[in-house]
Amino acid sequence: MRIVLLGAPGSGKGTQSQLLMARAGIPQISTGDLLRAAVAKGTELGLKAKEAMEAGRLVDDDIVLGMFRERLAEPDTRRGFILDGFPRNLAQAHALERLLAALKQPLDAVVQLEVDYSELVRRLSGRRSCADCGRVFNVLTAPGAAAHDLCPKTGAAHRLVQRADDNEATVRERLRVYEEKTRPLIDFYRARGLLRVIDAAGDVNEVTRRLMKALGVPGTRRASKTRSGAASKPKKKGSGGGSKAKSRTPRARRRPAARRR
Ligand code: AP5
Repeated sequence: MRIVLLGAPGSGKGTQSQLLMARAGIPQISTGDLLRAAVAKGTELGLKAKEAMEAGRLVDDDIVLGMFRERLAEPDTRRGFILDGFPRNLAQAHALERLLAALKQPLDAVVQLEVDYSELVRRLSGRRSCADCGRVFNVLTAPGAAAHDLCPKTGAAHRLVQRADDNEATVRERLRVYEEKTRPLIDFYRARGLLRVIDAAGDVNEVTRRLMKALGVPGTRRASKTRSGAASKPKKKGSGGGSKAKSRTPRARRRPAARRR
């Protein structure tokens, strides 16, 4: 299975990739994680990426495409992959299409995760991760979850830190950039018959069920009607959309070291 998870910052691409990865046995490729790893290592590429990331802008296509090609060449991607945060604009989508056509490994599906705008902001402002094991929590959508167990790396309580780009000003810019650069991919993939759209608000496990159903993963019934014509902006504040539903941090979700900051 070769799939792309599309969605605004905070829509749950990383969370759902991790859960799907555990169930489907295929790796997640997150360009955000790859870039954060490069930043943490202080490589030349990382230094170039850092400024754009901290400002909420997209990193140059050349850098991202180079990193992506390298990752795709690793043997674990042969059985498939989940792309999280890539492609992010039309140039990247065309490049991905050419690359996969050359490898005779076209995409099977692209799933758009739809979440209300105010819920995106709430999720991003509440996101914290353990500085030692990298596990992601949320102090607003799942308060207290970090106290339920100890950090597997240190055996002590999780040390929660906030991602550098989860501050108010950068979140605003990331959402603006998403609207301008990434949203056009919805039409791009709809035109290719690959797009599925799911409601990604509410309980994390319920969202996973919707995702598996949209992908036609065995054990779930494929959605009879994919809302490929209904993709829309993250709904603005007050427009409803079930964002008040209870949610919890998935226990299985562990970010790789690259997510540590
Ligand atoms: P990236 O790391 O890709 O960030 P993003 O797209 O902004 O997405 P996020 O990681 O913020 O959100 P997510 O959708 O994964 O949500 P999550 O599951 O964590 O990119 C960062 C930067 O790197 C970019 O701004 C750019 O500069 C650069 N970059 C990356 N890729 C690039 C590319 N291809 N080209 C150019 N530049 C690139 O969930 C968020 C929070 O909500 C968590 O706390 C989680 O626990 C919680 N949560 C999740 N689901 C639910 C739920 N159902 N209910 C309640 N809470 C939930």
